[in-house]
Amino acid sequence: MTTIAIDGPAAAGKGTLSRLIAEAYGFHHLDTGLTYRATAKALLDRGLPLDDEAVAAGVARNLDLSGLDRTLLSAHDIGEAASKIAVMPAVRRALVEAQREFAERAPGTVLDGRDIGTVVCPDAVVKLYVTASADVRARRRYDEIIANGGAAEYDAVFQDVRRRDERDMGRLDSPLRPAENAHLLDTSEMSIEAAFSAARSIIEAAL
Ligand code: C5P
Repeated sequence: MTTIAIDGPAAAGKGTLSRLIAEAYGFHHLDTGLTYRATAKALLDRGLPLDDEAVAAGVARNLDLSGLDRTLLSAHDIGEAASKIAVMPAVRRALVEAQREFAERAPGTVLDGRDIGTVVCPDAVVKLYVTASADVRARRRYDEIIANGGAAEYDAVFQDVRRRDERDMGRLDSPLRPAENAHLLDTSEMSIEAAFSAARSIIEAAL
């Protein structure tokens, strides 16, 4: 099956880019961050502990991938809890299995996350590693919060981005890093249109 793998740190623009690419090719899209967020939310909602690997993995194994919605999963505490349970190997094993099943859907799929090119779909036809400087990513996240009517301090958002990077890149199981054969796309100085056009050229050359 044709799979396009898109990885990168938080707020690099990979979500928007993945949606546009999936639309352009008529492929199914899975934002794998939502699988970690939905597992975390289920634990929080049921008052279950976030530090019990067996409990978290049990919830992960029962996760329904249909109907995952970022607007319902975007709260800050859900993101924090998601990045905590994402260090647990048993949780990752359960979610990776569901993600690999999704990747088999016809006519093709786009999966985005942190470990798609390295672990989930190492045989993906195209691998993109989308990044941007921490400052640019924090600025985008801050602007998004304000545009949605929320309140935030830029410095706090910046620290949050840095902390998330450290946790994602520093964990032992499936740390965030570009796959060996990934194409790097630094969007720091790019509009989303420019990033999409650059991504398309890479994909066209590979398909
Ligand atoms: O991308 P998003 O911020 O929604 O992801 C939430 C958390 O899930 C991240 O902080 C990251 O730790 C984790 N994650 C992961 N592997 C993925 C996708 C997300 O560990 N493939």
